[in-house]
Amino acid sequence: MENPNETFRLIAKTVSGLESVLAAELEELGAQNIEMLTRAVAFDSDQKLMYQANYCLRTALRILKPIVQFTAKDEDGLYDQVSKLHWHTYFSIEQTFAIDAVVSGKYFNHSQYTALRVKDAIVDQFRDRFGARPSVDIANPDFRLGVHISNDQVSLLLDSSGDSLHKRGYRTMVDKAPINEVLAAGLILLSGWKADSHFVDAMCGSGTIPIEAAMYAMNIPAAYFRDRFGFMSWPDFDEKLWHQIKSDANDAIRDFDFEIIGSDRSAKAIDIARDNVRKAHLHKDIKLFRKPMEQMIPPTGGGILLINPPYGERLEEENLVALYQLIGDSLKKHFKGYQAWVISSDLQAIKMIGLKPSSKLIVYNGPLECRFMRFDVFEGSYKEKKARDNRN
Ligand SMILES: C[S@@+](CC[C@H](N)C(=O)[O-])C[C@H]1O[C@@H](n2cnc3c(N)ncnc32)[C@H](O)[C@@H]1O
Repeated sequence: MENPNETFRLIAKTVSGLESVLAAELEELGAQNIEMLTRAVAFDSDQKLMYQANYCLRTALRILKPIVQFTAKDEDGLYDQVSKLHWHTYFSIEQTFAIDAVVSGKYFNHSQYTALRVKDAIVDQFRDRFGARPSVDIANPDFRLGVHISNDQVSLLLDSSGDSLHKRGYRTMVDKAPINEVLAAGLILLSGWKADSHFVDAMCGSGTIPIEAAMYAMNIPAAYFRDRFGFMSWPDFDEKLWHQIKSDANDAIRDFDFEIIGSDRSAKAIDIARDNVRKAHLHKDIKLFRKPMEQMIPPTGGGILLINPPYGERLEEENLVALYQLIGDSLKKHFKGYQAWVISSDLQAIKMIGLKPSSKLIVYNGPLECRFMRFDVFEGSYKEKKARDNRN
């Protein structure tokens, strides 16, 4: 495959709504020619940046390397084109592999059948050349190949991440409706918090948001707790370069002087959060309390409150109207001087908060279109704040 100095295009996939923060993260890593796409960001890379992207990016789900593009209008045409690549230069018979196909447009309708035909082309080539074939392992393959088809445009992409990057390696247990780690990190970045004030999640469930906040504040690389990546199985894996990148990134870990707090009314949730916080080695940096939000008194000095309250199908048993009223009451009573951010798919319930949002963003939590809203909780009334602002 590539030599270490070769540059090539990479595509970082993400959650819908996080493209801008992913692009900003890439800029910070020094990436060039950054281009925002739908649920993805493309950029120029070399091997070093590809390793850094996998290790450091908080809002990428996978880093893909396109290897070839061609046209095909049916499965046989696809089979022929895939057969043209020399697959033993990408992985060996002893390694397992998997194909992820995403198809749209009028020519290909079944992603599974498409993946099967690509697999056949690869397996047949190995068998013809070597008299033996590599095995497929859907769950935990050494080598993952992406097949993206839009109408007759086919792209084959090597998956340098392997398992999705939201699998950080610190979260082994979850309570109800846990938020995806990539989305949690993305919300923190979207909020604009610069790790220069307190951070509170008063509905922390399994603790994902406070853990991602602490990792961001302390500059702990997103994949600090992961030990496997797809590129490690590639023939050109440069172990020395990889260790260098990890050690450079780890040297930049720093202390954080403000408080990071997670609380939840559920004892089970707090037990799970405690476990996850410990696995992330953050038990000295995150304070956890079992408390309903209405009793949660945040540290003085102001900061960010970021909550992921119940909504949507997964938690339909809740009385959402009363709950969102209670969120609004708690904000007004206890969170003066805080900037509160709430993610929810339930527009009616959000209205019950009874405060005017100063910013509204759209993000997706899985299939659910959500609003991510900011409420500024001022000292005194909104009217008094406006009058103060006008005087200054
Ligand atoms: C969608 S879950 C949060 C998931 C969390 N972000 C995670 O990653 O695991 C909503 C959480 O709100 C908590 N909750 C509901 N009502 C609450 C209240 N009045 N005070 C505090 N927590 C509450 C629930 O116990 C639940 O853990």
